[in-house]
Amino acid sequence: MQALRFSNGDTMPQTGLGTWKIEPKHTREAVLQAIHAGYRHIDCAFAYGNEREVGQALAAAMAEGIARSELWVTSKLWNNAHHPDQVRPALEASCKKLGLDYLDLYLIHWPVVQKEHVMRPSQASDLISLKELPLSKTWGALEACVDAGLTRHIGVANLSVAKLQGLLKTARIKPEMDQVELHPYLQQDALLAFCRENGINVTAYSPLGSGDRPGAKAGDPVLLKEPVLQAVADRHGASPAQVLIAWALKRGTAVIPKSANPEHIRQNFQAQDLQLSAQDMADLAALDRGHRMISGDLWCVAGSDYTLATLWDE
Ligand code: A2P
Repeated sequence: MQALRFSNGDTMPQTGLGTWKIEPKHTREAVLQAIHAGYRHIDCAFAYGNEREVGQALAAAMAEGIARSELWVTSKLWNNAHHPDQVRPALEASCKKLGLDYLDLYLIHWPVVQKEHVMRPSQASDLISLKELPLSKTWGALEACVDAGLTRHIGVANLSVAKLQGLLKTARIKPEMDQVELHPYLQQDALLAFCRENGINVTAYSPLGSGDRPGAKAGDPVLLKEPVLQAVADRHGASPAQVLIAWALKRGTAVIPKSANPEHIRQNFQAQDLQLSAQDMADLAALDRGHRMISGDLWCVAGSDYTLATLWDE
């Protein structure tokens, strides 16, 4: 299985199961199917609302003889727990639901801070400015979780180069991961290059274009229906989803396709065997259009400090 290496020698399987959007009632089965198909990396988050069910699958897998050390489990700190006093309790709550003593990787989910009682902001007063509670403060509490053995690695998600640079200035433990949206319509080459230069691994989320995302609008581009992608898939007798996963792997990122469908789960894992040619990569590179499926507009509440420009630094 292809893997990404961390500076202490730990390795993370490059292909993981994404659990965002898997309904709780289907999560145990999907995660167990994935583990049976060979996945050893499961990507989770408090905000996905299904960590307990992921934990049930992990427990079943371990009862079948899979060792904890063979599994890589990532989870993420939600926006309403950025205060340094809240970080460790949030991590411990995720561990408890997942039935684990430690996580392999814990990420700050978004560079967005919400008040403690707020799951999704609907008014400016639900949000706290990053000027008031900067990521560096939250990061210090994540570092303490590494020291306490609660997570082996820490990182971020949805961070721009500018925000990574800011964090790198004060971090004692460097962020080891940036998990961002990546697919042929949003290739983010400059971010990838920055991460490579700074020893930060990258995970591609929504690698299949996240057709089941909430808020998808008629008229949005549908990545899995892209004719160029279909042509590459046809050349290999593969599916478009498999090409997208192989593309992400060849770019050196981890990739976390979501599926709750056993056949998709299996074929997505088998995409590791698909070798794309230089011509395939060039054809897919030409598809870049800087299009975010996950725009971040949920956080851009009028009257708050958060706008698309401040979120993505674009
Ligand atoms: P399903 O859960 O029914 O498999 P992303 O990972 O980019 O968020 O995309 C997830 C979407 O892609 C879901 O709608 C998921 O549906 C679908 N999907 C996952 N794997 C495949 C596949 N191999 N072929 C077609 N669609 C897939």
